[in-house]
Amino acid sequence: MKRQLQEIKEAVEKVLSGAADLEALENIRVEYLGKKGKLTAVLKGMGKLSSEERPVIGAMANDIRSFLEKEIDEKKAEISKKLQDIKLKSEVIDVTMPGKAQAMGKYHPLSQVMNEIKDIFIGMGFEIAEGPDVEYDYYNFEALNIPKNHPARDTQDTFYIKENILLRTQTSSIQVRVMEKQKPPIRIIAPGRVYRSDAVDATHSPVFHQIEGLVVDKGVTMADLKGTLETFIKELYGSETKVRFRPHHFPFTEPSAELDISCFVCGGEGCRVCKGEGWIELLGCGMVHPKVLSNCGIDPEIYSGFAFGLGLERVAMRRYDIDDMRLFFENDLRFLNQF
Ligand code: FA5
Ligand code: MG
Repeated sequence: MKRQLQEIKEAVEKVLSGAADLEALENIRVEYLGKKGKLTAVLKGMGKLSSEERPVIGAMANDIRSFLEKEIDEKKAEISKKLQDIKLKSEVIDVTMPGKAQAMGKYHPLSQVMNEIKDIFIGMGFEIAEGPDVEYDYYNFEALNIPKNHPARDTQDTFYIKENILLRTQTSSIQVRVMEKQKPPIRIIAPGRVYRSDAVDATHSPVFHQIEGLVVDKGVTMADLKGTLETFIKELYGSETKVRFRPHHFPFTEPSAELDISCFVCGGEGCRVCKGEGWIELLGCGMVHPKVLSNCGIDPEIYSGFAFGLGLERVAMRRYDIDDMRLFFENDLRFLNQF
């Protein structure tokens, strides 16, 4: 029996040295030390021993069992450590490697210019107002002193949705909405998209953006209008920019003017962009017509005001020296990435 036990011990030591993973270890444990294992089988035969031999063999068997358990535990620790080393090596991260650059989105050039313009006017004490793209005839035309059959309706070829509902052709509709709700002093700008069935060319699009401006208070004059717009243009384009006010007609302002700036492509000599004129129309403006004020419940005997409406695309073209408005809408990344 002693020999049997000794053989088991040697056999286990031998297979242990060859065990390569935790599963093999567990198999060895079960085979020798398990309930149906070889060591247990030997111990079961102890009953046949004499009473002198039994304690000696029993002690020896226990020694061998705890020795083998210890051996297996040590081997287990050794294998676990090896496996962990392999895992750590395969998962190693080189923190000094350059990172993958994330492609950052950015504002569309029109949004950038829009934000610049908002900043300039907010700096002069203006607030931002809004109105709907789908508008009543009343706000887009009627209240602005453009009755049915007025020729000014033709110059803004309109997309109608129903007889009295349309896609706004100008942000001037927001003037009326603001004056209906708010009493003077009023000092707002109102940006928005506008729609006209204009043919597409380098300076025209059927969908474009306007920014409306409106100031109403006691004693507001044309000098305030000129001063505000000149300050704005020079803030945006630099103090050397040439500006001219050209008399014009809008039904909702009196007197009215258009503001031109020197052509940013040819500098005034005449080219494709300015259609040979040397100047580019940037905005319309004027003193709010007394009839519009009273349409909105503001007494024109007490209050006066000025208004303007600028074309955002034209302003952005000049800002970035872009010679064709269509570039803004084509969304070619080679173009957009330059801003
Ligand atoms: C108006 O729309 C007036 N509501 C402006 C106004 C407001 C006058 C307040 C007085 C007081 P007009 O139709 O000229 O005016 O258009 C204003 C600006 O929009 C133009 O100066 C131009 O810069 C721009 N614009 C006009 N049509 C187009 C178009 N098809 N594509 C791009 N920009 C345009
Ligand atoms: Mg015009």
